[in-house]
Amino acid sequence: MSFSADVITLFPDLFPGPLGASVLGRGMQDGRWHLSTTQLRDFAEDKHRSVDDTPSGGGAGMVLRPDILAKAIDHVSPQGDTRPRLVMSPRGVPLDQARVRRLAAGPGVVIVCGRFEGIDQRVIDARGLEEVSIGDYVLAGGEVAAMVLLEAVVRLLPGVLGTAESHAEESFEDGLLEYPQYTRPQAFEGHAIPAVLTSGDHARIARWRRAEAEALTRKRRPDLIGPSQD
Ligand code: ADE
Repeated sequence: MSFSADVITLFPDLFPGPLGASVLGRGMQDGRWHLSTTQLRDFAEDKHRSVDDTPSGGGAGMVLRPDILAKAIDHVSPQGDTRPRLVMSPRGVPLDQARVRRLAAGPGVVIVCGRFEGIDQRVIDARGLEEVSIGDYVLAGGEVAAMVLLEAVVRLLPGVLGTAESHAEESFEDGLLEYPQYTRPQAFEGHAIPAVLTSGDHARIARWRRAEAEALTRKRRPDLIGPSQD
C-alpha cells in the first residue's frame, strides 16, 4: 500500500499545485503516493452550502461548524483508518523534520485545511485532530501549509527522490543546518573555493564541513543546539 493523503478543503482547485510537479508529480504517477481532495462544501446541508457560523461568545470572523466537518472527515476517514488526522493551524504544534519523518513512515495522512477564524473545538476533540503549524506567522488558510507538509513528507517516501539526491547530509538530518556548498568555476568574482574542498583529503573535508555546520547552526539557530557550554 502506498502513502495515501486526503485533504479536506474549500479550495480543492489549488491542488495538486506544486505537489504535481517534478519528482513529487512523477512519484504520484508511479503510484508511490496518492492524493485525494474533498470539497468541504459538499457536506453542507442548506441551499447556500454554508460551512461556517459566527463565533459563540462573540468576536470577529467565522468558525467552521463541527457537524459539517465531522461528516467530511467520516467520509474520507471512516472508523478503522489508522492515518493521523491533522488540521493546519497557526496554533498547532510546530512542524519539524522528526515529525515529517514519522509521517513518511506511516500509511498516509488526512489533512483538514482551515479558513476563517478557526474550527469548533468539539470536532477537533471528537475526531482526534492534531493541530500542526508550519511557522510563527499567519496564512490566509491551511492549503499552502498542507502543501508544505506534504512536500516535506512525500520527498522522503521510498523511490520519490532518485538515489542521486541523498538525504544523509541535508539540513536537520543530523540536527544541524547544512554546511556551505561550492562548485565550479574555481574562481567566482575573485573568490576561490575553500582550499580544503579541493585537497582530496576526505577526512579533513568531513571535519571542515562538520565545523562549518556547527558554526552556522550556533549563529543562526542556537535553539537547535541547546544552551552553550561556556
Ligand atoms: N493556517 C494559517 N496559518 C497557518 C500556519 N502558520 N501554519 C499552519 N496552518 C496555518
